[in-house]
Amino acid sequence: MLQDKRILLILTGGIAAYKGLDLIRRLRERGAAVTPVVTRAAEQFVTPLSVSALAGEKVYRDLFDLTDEAEMGHIQLSRSADLILVAPATADIMAKMAQGRADDLASTLLLATDTPVMIAPAMNVRMWDHPATQRNLAQITDDGVSVVGPNDGDMACGEYGPGRMSEPLEIVAAVETHFGPKPLVGKHVLVTSGPTHEPIDPVRYIANRSSGAQGAAVAGALLALGADVTFVTGPADVAAPVGAHVVPVQTAQEMKAAVDAALPADAAIFAAAVADWRMATASDRKLKKSKDGLPVLEFAENPDILAGVSQMTKGRPGLVVGFAAETDDVQAHATAKRTRKGCDWIVANDVSPETGIMGGSENAVILITEDGADPWPRMPKAEVALRLAQRIADALT
Ligand code: CTP
Repeated sequence: MLQDKRILLILTGGIAAYKGLDLIRRLRERGAAVTPVVTRAAEQFVTPLSVSALAGEKVYRDLFDLTDEAEMGHIQLSRSADLILVAPATADIMAKMAQGRADDLASTLLLATDTPVMIAPAMNVRMWDHPATQRNLAQITDDGVSVVGPNDGDMACGEYGPGRMSEPLEIVAAVETHFGPKPLVGKHVLVTSGPTHEPIDPVRYIANRSSGAQGAAVAGALLALGADVTFVTGPADVAAPVGAHVVPVQTAQEMKAAVDAALPADAAIFAAAVADWRMATASDRKLKKSKDGLPVLEFAENPDILAGVSQMTKGRPGLVVGFAAETDDVQAHATAKRTRKGCDWIVANDVSPETGIMGGSENAVILITEDGADPWPRMPKAEVALRLAQRIADALT
């Protein structure tokens, strides 16, 4: 798939640089030629010798290396590649890219090029969440840079959250998609994701364990195939995919309004774990303990957003896909759900606690269509997403 592609791989300084070594191997296994560049800081984490040994090419380190300038100037170096990949990309290189600074070889290459650029950020969760990094991210994606990850997870620094570099195979998949066909260009796809929060009073709410990981991965995969994605998301643990039109919501009713506003769409994918019930009337004051007894919570049923869109008589998306989270008799329940709700496909998964799927990084799904049930092997959520996006592309084109 990557045969004859030349990738200029810039490793910047972060603990994730060790994964950059594996990334070089994976890219070369698929036929890509990798020209490595390391920053001063990266050399604190991996040695230039191991980088160049794995790449099978000279490693570039210094802007003012005259021999290199004689052999190949930095301008030519940056333009000889089909893709410039920055992995790991630190907060610092993102800041330099956003500002157009060129004070070392890596930043100069990034400024001197018109080659497509992809970055795989890796940093501490606070650094990732910092408004400055988010501002820089918005700027560089605006400038046309594509972004893989970061993932959620335990970090080398002992904290937890978004900021972990994507795994080498996830980055390879993104690179392959970059060079692959873009069958969804011009198609608008709506994706719902995450849990909803239904307020009980101003400080309490009803929620569920959905992390939003599978929905975000599906949206990311659709974007990679060229779709224009509206991403309606409840309060999820994972970051929304860069490049989507993100509509954050809290409750099921807000989600429904956002979905209605986002239509028409060529396809709609309902990956959200919508709360089935809300409070009949949420209290506008904090409920207090009382000697008179326990509070009684009275529920009302939320609108079924998926069923509503599936059963539209005018302007229904050409393809409507629901998800089914089941704990028993997965296939039978999901098949019945497809008929009951009126959607075209159901992606069913077993969310029994022992499967580790809810909140985990893998998924084992059964795709239920009018042709029957197709069980997929257990695989990372990112791969489920890519496969599903490909099936959606096949159905729409
Ligand atoms: N869904 C929705 N709006 C709701 C509830 C669910 O759009 N109010 C969508 C979900 O996004 C998902 C699908 O419906 O795509 C299935 O949701 P699930 O909660 O598994 O099904 P339920 O309708 O709750 O059915 P059951 O009570 O039998 O589990």
